[in-house]
Amino acid sequence: VRNLKVALLGCGNVGAQVARILIDDADALAARSGARLELSGIAVRNIDTPRDVELPRELFTTDAETLVKDADLVIELMGGIEPARSLILTAVRNGACVVTGNKALLAQDGPTLYEEADKAGVQLSYEAAVAGAIPILRPIRDSLSGDRITRVLGIVNGTTNFILDQMDTTGAQFADALAEAQRLGYAEADPTADVEGHDAAAKAAILASLSFHTRFSLDDVYCEGITKVTASDIASAKEAGFVIKLLAIAEKIESPDNGSGISVRVHPTLLPREHPLAAVRGAFNAVFIEAENAGELMFYGQGAGGTPTASAVLGDLVSAARRLVLGGPGRTETTTGYVQPLPVEASTTSY
Ligand code: HSE
Repeated sequence: VRNLKVALLGCGNVGAQVARILIDDADALAARSGARLELSGIAVRNIDTPRDVELPRELFTTDAETLVKDADLVIELMGGIEPARSLILTAVRNGACVVTGNKALLAQDGPTLYEEADKAGVQLSYEAAVAGAIPILRPIRDSLSGDRITRVLGIVNGTTNFILDQMDTTGAQFADALAEAQRLGYAEADPTADVEGHDAAAKAAILASLSFHTRFSLDDVYCEGITKVTASDIASAKEAGFVIKLLAIAEKIESPDNGSGISVRVHPTLLPREHPLAAVRGAFNAVFIEAENAGELMFYGQGAGGTPTASAVLGDLVSAARRLVLGGPGRTETTTGYVQPLPVEASTTSY
């Protein structure tokens, strides 16, 4: 059986679970991918940082560059733009397939990375970047590739869904619901990226790019978070039969001024209580898709957390390994544009 060297960059919540599963489930992963996936090292900033999972100390290194250069498969879970971006570029230029969960990097600089991976003929996959455990990017890219998606509505940030749900259920104000989310460990100590909608906007750019076969970056996404939503907004919505959800929306629209195009936006949205997305409670995520032939589809599950997100990372890894074993490194997604993003414009309060 062929041996493939796997370099892991980053060992936070998700990285630690990926490492654990690679070690504990080595035989099953080998059977499914046709190769032994050997964890050759874990690059971290500080080897002595305490971690939730006990892992062999000799795997840790601070020299990510050397680790990457010697790998067949690279898993990037460091987050942030640099050094993640440079390390991914080094990996693909060396012919390694890359799996990443870095939505901020993809939303900012995805096109450069996809092109470089294309040029090198290697696979760049990123299922974990949107909605954690939920298999959503591959269904959009592969299963729906013979259809035409007309609209995507996503609850893609668990923290804000938890806060809005808490406000809806208990009548709490935003600040109290946020404090509860922080107490339960959903929201970060600095929850700006979640509550201002930036995290959802990065995911919206990725969903829109794949759904509409063009390239959207964060700058193409109108973004409004939930900090201005009050308990009384929620009560009025409730009285009228609606629930307020923070939605990532990408849809084909006809605009009298700009012609037809794709609108991509994130904002608090009034949803009828009978809409399937209204039933998504707590910190769960869901993506609702409308397609010309398939009709309505919904994907639901855990959008964050170490083990659920690790599931998505390992799915990409096994798939990349299989392609390597079969002899042809899979080519990365190509997104040749046939539609243009519309200028970013003001949101509507209902979809
Ligand atoms: N902060 C994100 C969320 C984590 O709350 O959904 C997953 O990207």
